[in-house]
Amino acid sequence: MKTVSVATTSQIKEGELLAVKVENQKVLLTKIDDRIYAVENKCPHLGMPLAKGKVCDRAVTCRWHGASFDLTTGENVKWVDSFVGIPLPEWSHQALSIGKSAQSIKTYPVTTQGDEVSISI
Ligand code: FES
Repeated sequence: MKTVSVATTSQIKEGELLAVKVENQKVLLTKIDDRIYAVENKCPHLGMPLAKGKVCDRAVTCRWHGASFDLTTGENVKWVDSFVGIPLPEWSHQALSIGKSAQSIKTYPVTTQGDEVSISI
């Protein structure tokens, strides 16, 4: 595991998402309750970037099909249920999942030193 500087603390705002690329991996940085978190910027459903998603109640919701992930733990809190923000009926969710079951996203340990934010990757 390697520790890499990824941003400054002032670049990461409470409840907002900052996408960075580190060692060929797409990473999403955010601040929740004044603590910085790093998760992979890739939805496990179809691999779309979570940076385009919406943050609410510590979770990011993927804009394409509605899967949500806790930004503090990476845990999946809701699997697919919509298409670009339009809710779909329950009966269609199985087809929408295209055979993929709910999965969590990867998290990265974050350290700060002064204004510098680093992650272990
Ligand atoms: S690509 Fe994210 S929910 Fe489908």
